[in-house]
Amino acid sequence: MLTSIKTNEFRGDKSKELGMMYFRVAIILFGAQLLMGLIAAIQFIVPGFLFEVFDFSVARMVHINALVVWMLYAMIGSVYFMLPDETGVETVGIGLGKLAFWVLTAAVTVVVLVFIFVQVGSGTETSIWLINEGREYLEAPRWADIGIVVVVLIFYWNTFATYMKGQRTGIMTVMVANLMALAGLYLAGMFFTDNISMDQFWWWWVIHLWVEATWEVFVGTLAAYALIKIIGAKREIVEMWLWIEVLMLFGSGILGLGHHYFWIGTPEYWWEIGALFSSLEPVPLIAMFVHVLYDWGKEQGIAKAEGHKGAVANNTPALSWIVTNAFGNFLGAGIWGFFHTLPQVNIYTHGTQFTAAHGHLSFFGAYATILIGMFYMGIQYAYGIERLKSTFKSKMAIFLLTFGVLGMGVALTIAGYEQVLVERAELGAGWNAFFVAQDLPWYVQAQLWRTIMGVVTFVGFIYLVWDLLTIGKQAKAAQEA
Ligand code: HEM
Ligand code: HEM
Ligand SMILES: [Fe+2]
Repeated sequence: MLTSIKTNEFRGDKSKELGMMYFRVAIILFGAQLLMGLIAAIQFIVPGFLFEVFDFSVARMVHINALVVWMLYAMIGSVYFMLPDETGVETVGIGLGKLAFWVLTAAVTVVVLVFIFVQVGSGTETSIWLINEGREYLEAPRWADIGIVVVVLIFYWNTFATYMKGQRTGIMTVMVANLMALAGLYLAGMFFTDNISMDQFWWWWVIHLWVEATWEVFVGTLAAYALIKIIGAKREIVEMWLWIEVLMLFGSGILGLGHHYFWIGTPEYWWEIGALFSSLEPVPLIAMFVHVLYDWGKEQGIAKAEGHKGAVANNTPALSWIVTNAFGNFLGAGIWGFFHTLPQVNIYTHGTQFTAAHGHLSFFGAYATILIGMFYMGIQYAYGIERLKSTFKSKMAIFLLTFGVLGMGVALTIAGYEQVLVERAELGAGWNAFFVAQDLPWYVQAQLWRTIMGVVTFVGFIYLVWDLLTIGKQAKAAQEA
């Protein structure tokens, strides 16, 4: 049996390389996501911008699909990255994994090109199969859906077989079980029904049960792994937290699904179920937050008792992103989610810019942050750096990205607030009310600020890429000097 991994110890070059292939595509798609967001944001202010060339519907669709896809790439990459460290063996089926990578990447490219070249047209059985399936966030046509299922089966097999072959840590047990749920849920978004309530009902199984249950557990396992690697956190402690979080996340997240069943034609008992369980969802998010800080404090305490200065983080950019994740998850998902989760509130906020504010803060806070942290782990490994220190560029990247997204969140919250008061409360939520509210200064100015903050976010992204391209070489040179 192998001993537990230590900080600074990376195993399994082939799996790591495969993981890095996924990371690279993830970053490119992240950039594409932001560019699409900027186009859509400008269209809020100048509605004629790129009209009939690149319509809002398309820019928005590519923006959020690229978001989901880059995160899935970064997640698969992270699993391949950590597998050998946790199990002590190289991933089985590396060749198959590489093949799956290329198939997936080719499919994603074709899907995006079709989205861009076929922007309008009627929805038919053929368009569902070849062009666009029409479910927000999961618009990929059915041929691609089936391809994705095959690719994910290969990925899952690789993970599972490696787990069975090697050492089975608590982190990996949670990972393997959770991935099965995560992959299986995708199937709920694949079949077609012409009853819009039923369609929405199942669609939420993917969207909600991903981001509020399985993805959360996923980042829990990543944080546990990363904290062991970076600050040498005790495995027993992080794994204990992980199990508690799994229990709580599934407990509240599964029935919390009810907060999407308020107004889609599902039975009214969902009001109570959704209100109660979704209100409990912030509890595990607080636990995760405490988890990171507690582990850090505990390490410092042990070190002090042993009479030295304490665990020094061997990868400060990654650690900064992981700490930002603990804050961001709590803020974006916990607080901004809780704001509108009671039916009494949601009846006014439903589908306003308030929802968009929550969407940005939560996806960024809970997922973008920790996945960026994993990119830095990748750099540390690739260049064989013992202690990776934040550079000026790393700091600019984390500051501008976080400040930009927070700024967008605040601007959109103001726009949403105005919609709640004018469009919903005062004018009664009709078609006309929607347009009146869109023209009021609070709304227009908020959209302007969101665009400015979007540019700030994009500059942060440029710093991030620049840093990822240079920090490894610099650190290596410094290490050898
Ligand atoms: C990281 C976790 C989360 C992510 C990524 C996330 C993301 C999102 C997104 C993108 C939407 C908009 C969906 C659409 O287009 O219709 C949404 C809706 C919503 N979320 Fe979350 N969310 C998270 C956690 C939470 C939590 C913990 C709560 C409650 C405590 C919550 C409450 C809601 C509610 C009530 C809606 C419906 C908004 C409406 O009626 O327009 N979310 N979420
Ligand atoms: C350059 C920065 C960005 C800009 C300008 C931008 C802009 C936009 C725009 C205009 C929309 C459409 C909103 C609507 O339909 O009302 C949107 C939707 C969305 N964006 Fe962004 N975005 C940016 C970055 C991000 C980031 C970093 C994330 C998450 C990591 C993100 C996640 C989302 C989500 C989840 C939605 C759907 C929200 C919903 O359904 O309510 N965006 N974005
Ligand atoms: Fe939800």
